[in-house]
Amino acid sequence: MKEEGISTDNSRTEDQQKQLQLQKSGKIPRHIAVIMDGNGRWARNRGSVRIMGHKAGVDSVRDITEACAEIGVKHLTLYAFSTENWGRPKGEISALMKLLVQSLRSETRKLDENDIRLSTIGELDRLPPTCRQELEYAKELTSGNQRMELCLALSYSGRWDLNQAMNSIAQKVKNGDLGPEDITQDAISRHLATSRMPDPDLIVRTSGELRLSNFLLWQAAYSELYVTDTFWPDFRRDELYKAIDSFQQRERRFGKIPVTPELEESTI
Ligand code: IPE
Ligand code: IPE
Ligand code: MG
Repeated sequence: MKEEGISTDNSRTEDQQKQLQLQKSGKIPRHIAVIMDGNGRWARNRGSVRIMGHKAGVDSVRDITEACAEIGVKHLTLYAFSTENWGRPKGEISALMKLLVQSLRSETRKLDENDIRLSTIGELDRLPPTCRQELEYAKELTSGNQRMELCLALSYSGRWDLNQAMNSIAQKVKNGDLGPEDITQDAISRHLATSRMPDPDLIVRTSGELRLSNFLLWQAAYSELYVTDTFWPDFRRDELYKAIDSFQQRERRFGKIPVTPELEESTI
């Protein structure tokens, strides 16, 4: 027993050192968004049913959430269920919704203790009432927390988000509260479901697929992308550190060119 305790302490210290190293070596992304993919394939590779992959994925959510809060990420958005995922078999959808309710019931207190605020983006009206109730309870309980925001994208898609933003802008134009000249990029951003958050600095996708699958389409304009072949249930904090390390090696130019003393002097 004692030995086990010592090894846990050691791995905790090792983990803290890795976090410290990343904090020293560069910027920690303010907002990380994750496309949590590959649960089904993870399960199939083990000869198991898809829902077992989703269940194992909850452990990754817990670990990544804790690690992000510890290292100083301020917003973590997790793509948990897309608009298109409503097209999956009814059995899988209801198992996912049950898992969401169970996870909220078991994890909300811990989120609160860790000073993490839960939020959501997406068409929540489509979720079963028990899911909505648990989400409302968790959001309300954690609403004053400051350390990090954990945002769950549920029944979400980028096109849905743009569509609902356009609807509400159109309504305001109709009411005379906005003129066509007021529809600027900032105004569009303010009408998106993500209006309270900065755009993601880093978007991570697990399971190797090289696509956005309708995630944060507007907000991803200048996000750095990181794709790993690791399936979501195997994506734990050490993989997150690799993604942050990769982010820190990038040069974010936002369409400009790096400014050097020679360039500043040149007239071109
Ligand atoms: C991601 O895993 C979870 C959800 C989309 C809900 P998948 O269920 O898409 O797993 P794969 O991609 O089929 O392996
Ligand atoms: C993206 O994964 C959606 C979520 C992770 C919630 P999908 O498995 O639904 O995406 P595709 O079908 O591979 O594009
Ligand atoms: Mg998938």
